[in-house]
Amino acid sequence: MKIKDMTREQFSDRFEKYLRQLLSGARGLTGDAMRYASLDGGKRVRPLCVYYGAKAMGGNADADQLLPAAAATELIHSYSLVHDDMPEMDNDDYRRGKPSTHKKYGASIALLAGDGLLTLAGGELLKLEKNVAGEINSAALDMVYGQSRELEGCKSIDEFLNMYAQKTGALIRGAFRAGALCASAGDDMQTLMAQLAKCLENDDAVYNIGELNVDDGKAPKKLATVTCFAENLGIAFQLADDLLDGSGLIYLIGKEEEQKLLDKHTALAMECAKDLECSDELINFAQELWRRKA
Ligand code: IPE
Ligand code: MG
Repeated sequence: MKIKDMTREQFSDRFEKYLRQLLSGARGLTGDAMRYASLDGGKRVRPLCVYYGAKAMGGNADADQLLPAAAATELIHSYSLVHDDMPEMDNDDYRRGKPSTHKKYGASIALLAGDGLLTLAGGELLKLEKNVAGEINSAALDMVYGQSRELEGCKSIDEFLNMYAQKTGALIRGAFRAGALCASAGDDMQTLMAQLAKCLENDDAVYNIGELNVDDGKAPKKLATVTCFAENLGIAFQLADDLLDGSGLIYLIGKEEEQKLLDKHTALAMECAKDLECSDELINFAQELWRRKA
């Protein structure tokens, strides 16, 4: 079934079954911890980003093509949270309303569960076209770099926003672009890739909103707009997270100013959505993340 003919609920349903099946082979106590960390309870934002990325380009991709990309991004996200909650990082005892993985299984098994989830994600990347796999792979590296920059400390609004664009935004951006690339695989691939390379010059997944515009070629232009939508959404997502947790940039600028930044990036994302297919759905998605309570 093509993504353009599929509702979000139908895709989510397929995704949950696919992910459950993938994890069913994970062995031992580490396997249990992998399932504990990744099944039941997640919002599945990144798989939805893959779905909406494809829809934004017209949805001319089969759901089956998208599932490995959706699973890879979710597995990478899950592993990052297992490690993020450990005492050496954020030292959080709870995640998604239950004890975090290291609290439930101990630090050694939690470390291994993270390793296992990441390795499983690597297996999913092997099922994808090279360019799609590359998107997710570099997004995962940007996320790690962003986490590292957070530990190093940020002193200005720009430093925070750049770090957010990496630790949280990169995977959201990578998920959207992976979905978008899957859906544009039917276009003249060579023209697309040549123009995409042009569009990606100087682009190291930093805070570069507004710089992504190519003049010629319908698909690359749309892809640039998807990227712009995703980058704003990614930053907005982390700003909303700060407001819910009372943490991060709030310490520097306070709640009110951070809320203004969240509103601004959500509005920018919604502006990009207007130029894409299924703009109403994209706008609803941006609003849903903007007003989320968890
Ligand atoms: C989570 O970041 C880890 C990554 C984004 C890789 P945060 O520390 O800001 O998020 P929560 O509050 O633990 O979910
Ligand atoms: Mg954390």
